[in-house]
Amino acid sequence: MSTLLNVDNIHTAYGLSRVLFGISLEVVEGECVCLLGRNGVGKTTTMRSVMGLLRPSSGRVVWKGANIVGWAPHRVARAGIGFVPEDRRIFAELSVWENLDVAARSARRPGRWTIERVYELFPALSERRNQQGGFLSGGEQQMLTIARALVGNPELLLLDEPSEGLAPLVVGLLREKIAELKAEGLTILLAEQGVEFSLALADRVYVLQKGTVRHSGPSAELRNDPALLDRLLAL
Ligand SMILES: Nc1ncnc2c1ncn2[C@@H]1O[C@H](COP(=O)(O)OP(=O)(O)OP(=O)(O)O)[C@@H](O)[C@H]1O
Ligand SMILES: [Mg+2]
Repeated sequence: MSTLLNVDNIHTAYGLSRVLFGISLEVVEGECVCLLGRNGVGKTTTMRSVMGLLRPSSGRVVWKGANIVGWAPHRVARAGIGFVPEDRRIFAELSVWENLDVAARSARRPGRWTIERVYELFPALSERRNQQGGFLSGGEQQMLTIARALVGNPELLLLDEPSEGLAPLVVGLLREKIAELKAEGLTILLAEQGVEFSLALADRVYVLQKGTVRHSGPSAELRNDPALLDRLLAL
């Protein structure tokens, strides 16, 4: 299996405020990789740097062999990276179907994920296809955000804190859905604060602390060593 994404020593700042201090990570085809870390360690900033929403001041973001630093976000998306942002920005006035249709048209990447197929994965969305996005529950909105990224037929899906703010039952359902995507061979980069959620899904984990990678390794290692995990998440 080949390396799809290689983030190589990126530094990213918001104006004068420096946030990432040399983040490096790799995602291999078929893997589910998790960026784990507490509030404000730089998970979202890393994903935004990959998507071209922020430009690293140094370092490289290599996607299938090409350095994509400086590419506009829509170009990154068209190259095969789908992004599910943490703020779930769906079109509240548009119906579920319209939200999906807009995404499918703008992505212009044909592939196996059609609107009908995402309805199969998320039957709740199928039932509510004519309902306005703004009237969905938090869990349904999260599923719609994921579904919207899927109809763009990404080769790599970036999921930023999908479980945040959802009730435990819904988190469990979401976990099953992400596991299904993984089982179908979709490559996933997940950002999470939820330890149980991420360790259940991920093959490998990068633990971030204050804009640096503090630890990386197979998730089984952290599952089997709660003391190490506590130590890594203490800061
Ligand atoms: N738009 C911004 N302008 C200035 N600083 C920002 C901005 N967004 C985030 N930061 C700062 O950058 C740091 C990293 O934030 P980031 O959102 O990447 O963290 P995170 O790991 O995603 O956290 P969370 O789990 O809360 O989503 C934090 O100190 C945060 O305050
Ligand atoms: Mg975040």
